[in-house]
Amino acid sequence: MPPSLNLDTPELAEQYDVISDKQFEHGKLLLADLDVSAGQRILDVGCGTGRLGEYAASELLGPHGEVIGIEPLALRVDIARRRASPNHQVSVGRAEDLSQFADASFDVVYLNSVYHWLQDKKPVLAEAFRVLKRGGRLGISVASKDRPHDIQRVLQDVLTEHALYRNATGATPHRVGFSELGAQLEGAGFLIDQIILRSFADVFPNPEAVIDFNAASSFGNYLTDYTPHVREQVLASLRERFTALQTAEGIVAYRHLLFAVGHKPV
Ligand SMILES: C[S@@+](CC[C@H](N)C(=O)[O-])C[C@H]1O[C@@H](n2cnc3c(N)ncnc32)[C@H](O)[C@@H]1O
Repeated sequence: MPPSLNLDTPELAEQYDVISDKQFEHGKLLLADLDVSAGQRILDVGCGTGRLGEYAASELLGPHGEVIGIEPLALRVDIARRRASPNHQVSVGRAEDLSQFADASFDVVYLNSVYHWLQDKKPVLAEAFRVLKRGGRLGISVASKDRPHDIQRVLQDVLTEHALYRNATGATPHRVGFSELGAQLEGAGFLIDQIILRSFADVFPNPEAVIDFNAASSFGNYLTDYTPHVREQVLASLRERFTALQTAEGIVAYRHLLFAVGHKPV
């Protein structure tokens, strides 16, 4: 099932803006992989609250470059618009339908921590391919199916313990493996420049911070497969597990993401 785009709240959207340093920091690595440079026109697909787009516009693109962000959640678009500037614009839109943009109109298209939310990758890649200029680059950072995040493993254990369906939404439901991602990019016509795995050690101050990070990052989809009663039981077990992992430094959890860059043939 695709995640719902109707469960976001003003609180979750504001919270995401505050807690999304992890996505913001690895997004900067993606922009470096893409070799983003002055004067380019860039499409930020699923831009969230616009932090990475603002960074690209103000730090990398110069006065003649431009970032256009699109994002399906209106509450997050509102926050992203607070960051808008003459060369950073944001509007409501979905990765599967870029019909508001002309063919061959961008130098770079990127999806930072978005691809694992998309059930049907084909239209997404076809649209990115269409709007890219010849030689233009696509960048994707996505949760790895081969090496799930530590907090994902904990969740899967808890779901098993409760004898629940294990592919819960709110837990990057459509992540991809290394070969799968390569095949998807090539199938859409891209030439692959790189696919690498990067691992990050995240430090959370306490169990509640882990849960808040997941809830805000999944725009209201966290454990919504379950009834409120079962969800509370799962959350209680998660708190127990994360408490057991607490150290004086906090809860350290590893996250593993694939970073892919491909380009449209010249
Ligand atoms: C974890 S957030 C990442 C936001 C942003 N890219 C960042 O780096 O902070 C995932 C985003 O994917 C967006 N998303 C979910 N489904 C989408 C779709 N079909 N098309 C575009 N974006 C989508 C969500 O609305 C959410 O803002």
